[in-house]
Amino acid sequence: MTEPLMQAIRVHSYGGPEQLKFEWIERPQPQTGEVFVRVYAAGVNPLDWKIRQGLMQEYMPKAFPYIPGVEVAGVIEAIGPGVSGFAPGQAVFGGTERGAYAEYITVNASLLATKPETLTFAEAATIKGGAMVAWRALFEHGELQAGQHLLIQGAAGGVGVLAVQLAKWKGAHVIATTSTANLAFVRSLGADQVVDYTTTPITQVIKEVDMVFDAVGGKTLQEDLAVLKPGGRLISIATPPPMEQAAERGVQAMFSRGESSLPLETLLPQLVRLIEKGHLKVTVGKIFALSEVQKAHELSQSGHGRGRIVLQIA
Ligand SMILES: NC(=O)c1ccc[n+]([C@@H]2O[C@H](COP(=O)([O-])OP(=O)(O)OC[C@H]3O[C@@H](n4cnc5c(N)ncnc54)[C@H](OP(=O)(O)O)[C@@H]3O)[C@@H](O)[C@H]2O)c1
Repeated sequence: MTEPLMQAIRVHSYGGPEQLKFEWIERPQPQTGEVFVRVYAAGVNPLDWKIRQGLMQEYMPKAFPYIPGVEVAGVIEAIGPGVSGFAPGQAVFGGTERGAYAEYITVNASLLATKPETLTFAEAATIKGGAMVAWRALFEHGELQAGQHLLIQGAAGGVGVLAVQLAKWKGAHVIATTSTANLAFVRSLGADQVVDYTTTPITQVIKEVDMVFDAVGGKTLQEDLAVLKPGGRLISIATPPPMEQAAERGVQAMFSRGESSLPLETLLPQLVRLIEKGHLKVTVGKIFALSEVQKAHELSQSGHGRGRIVLQIA
């Protein structure tokens, strides 16, 4: 007997947004340690289009066809063998190793946490990717301390919005860059100073910061080196920083790749506590239907916007 079908987006070969194919495929079955989730919303990360284009082949090779999507929110419909602490009907959010651009997914239960009731599914689907990366860059690689002056480049993006708030929670003085359209929004996240990168060269208004967190990359990296104090730290997540130039200027630089070393089952509930105490607000960017996934990827590839783009699936 064949399994019931579901709608999913699959990629059959590396290439542009046209490689995102809307298909009917068999629903997966939960294996040991997994739960079977009806997907309500999936986050659209820049990583998704970078993988689709084949830019991540060296680090994250894909077997075709694959379903994209690394963050999910939905409702558990069934429990696989060996799972405890979760039940059918429970609303959850978190990461996936399988691909969230689908009506249903099987996920290792250790990658999920209970969705806070105060968040919509779309909001919950934006948390995992950004927060895990910001946490690693700021606290594990950057060792950010209370009172330090931190510049965040790309503060309006899916990672940046969480980085601003996590840094404020830690007690840092946060300076953030964004375009004109996002100035008031980034201020509302708690940034102490917001600089419009479209009108103001950052090097004219900022100097001697302790750390730069760069979520833009490319030409901003030169600005980062210029505004750091001697001995300061540049943590880039977008593109590798110029290590030799950093050394010549007497600052540390590193490319922070991947997510926090804390297990998701530890970090996700911690993030939920920060949300419930009002330290962390989540920001949904544009919302698309599953069938509009190509448009969602085109927008993500533009490199501009506010918060995390989401596919609303159920
Ligand atoms: N190393 C890792 O493990 C890792 C993990 C996750 C993400 N990343 C990378 O980190 C980058 C950011 O990810 P994301 O999810 O936050 O991307 P995103 O949601 O697409 O956001 C990009 C943001 O950058 C802002 N921006 C563009 N040009 C800017 C500039 N010159 N100065 C200041 N801000 C600028 C845009 O704001 P405006 O609209 O206001 O311009 C936009 O909000 C991506 O390249 C992504 O691939 C790396």
